[in-house]
Amino acid sequence: MADGDRLAGKVVLISGAASGIGAATARLFAERGARVAIGDIQTDKGQSLAGSLGDRALFVHLDVTNEASWREAVEAVQALFGAVTTVVNSAGVSIPANIEDETLEGFHRTLAINLDGTFLGCKIGVEALKAGRGGAIVNLASTLGAKSGAIFPSYSASKGAVRMLTRSVALHCAEQGYDIRVNAVLPGAIHTEMVEGYIAAGEAAGATREQVIGNFAQVHPMKRLGRPEEAAAAIVFLASDEAGFITGADLPVDGGFLA
Ligand SMILES: NC(=O)c1ccc[n+]([C@@H]2O[C@H](COP(=O)([O-])OP(=O)(O)OC[C@H]3O[C@@H](n4cnc5c(N)ncnc54)[C@H](O)[C@@H]3O)[C@@H](O)[C@H]2O)c1
Repeated sequence: MADGDRLAGKVVLISGAASGIGAATARLFAERGARVAIGDIQTDKGQSLAGSLGDRALFVHLDVTNEASWREAVEAVQALFGAVTTVVNSAGVSIPANIEDETLEGFHRTLAINLDGTFLGCKIGVEALKAGRGGAIVNLASTLGAKSGAIFPSYSASKGAVRMLTRSVALHCAEQGYDIRVNAVLPGAIHTEMVEGYIAAGEAAGATREQVIGNFAQVHPMKRLGRPEEAAAAIVFLASDEAGFITGADLPVDGGFLA
C-alpha cells in the first residue's frame, strides 16, 4: 500500500487541532489517506486548516471542557465521515506560574482544559469507538508530567494526571475486550504557539528570543527544540494498526530529556 493510503479508512477527531502539534497531526493523517476532523475553539484557524486539506477534512467547533460540545462534534464527524476510529486529545494550555504566584482560578482553568478535556475526550471517545469498529485514543501528556519545574505546578499536575488517566482507560478497554488502545505521547519542548508564549514571557522579563530558545534547547540532550511534525509522527504511529499491541504506554518525543 502506498504511504499516501496507509491510513485510509481511519476517521480521526483531533482536539486542539487548529494549532501546533494538533495541526501537524491533522496534516499527517490527511496526507496518509485518513479523514480528519479538526476540533478547536479557534474557528478561523481551524476552518482555514480544514480548507487547505480539502475533502478529507472538516472543522468542528469543540470546547473540550464541555461534554455537550464533545457529543455534538462526534455527531458531526459521524454524519460526514462515518464511525470515528481515532481520537487525539491535543487541546491544552500552559501558563507558567510558580506555586506562590499561581491562583486557584488559574490552577482550575489549566486542569479544566488539560485534564477534564482529556477525560471527556476519553469518555466520549470510548463510547464512539465502541459503537463503531474500535480504534485508538492518543492523549498529549508531557515530559513535564514526569519531571517538573518550579514554574509548572498546574501544568505538571494536569499532565501527570493525564498519564495515569491514559493507563486506567487503556486497562479498562483491554479488560472489557474492546478493540480500543489508549496511549500517551510525552513531548519535550516542541516549537509551537505554546512555546512562543514562553518566549514572549521570557522577552518581557528581559531575555532575548535567542536566549529563551537556547535555554529550552540546552535542557534537551539533542540540544534543540522538537518540531510539531516530530510529535505528529509519534501520534500517528500510536494510532495506526502498526501499534496493534501497544496500549497504556508513554512515548516520549523529547530529544532524550527523560532518558
Ligand atoms: N509545545 C510543547 O512544547 C508541548 C510539550 C509537551 C506537551 N504539549 C502538549 O501538546 C498539546 C498541543 O500543544 P501545542 O504546543 O500544539 O499548543 P498550541 O497552543 O499550539 O495548540 C493548542 C490548541 O488547543 C486549543 N484549545 C485551547 N483550549 C481549548 C478548548 N477549551 N477546547 C478546544 N481547544 C482548545 C487552542 O485553541 C490551540 O489551537 C497540548 O496538550 C500541550 O500541553 C506541548
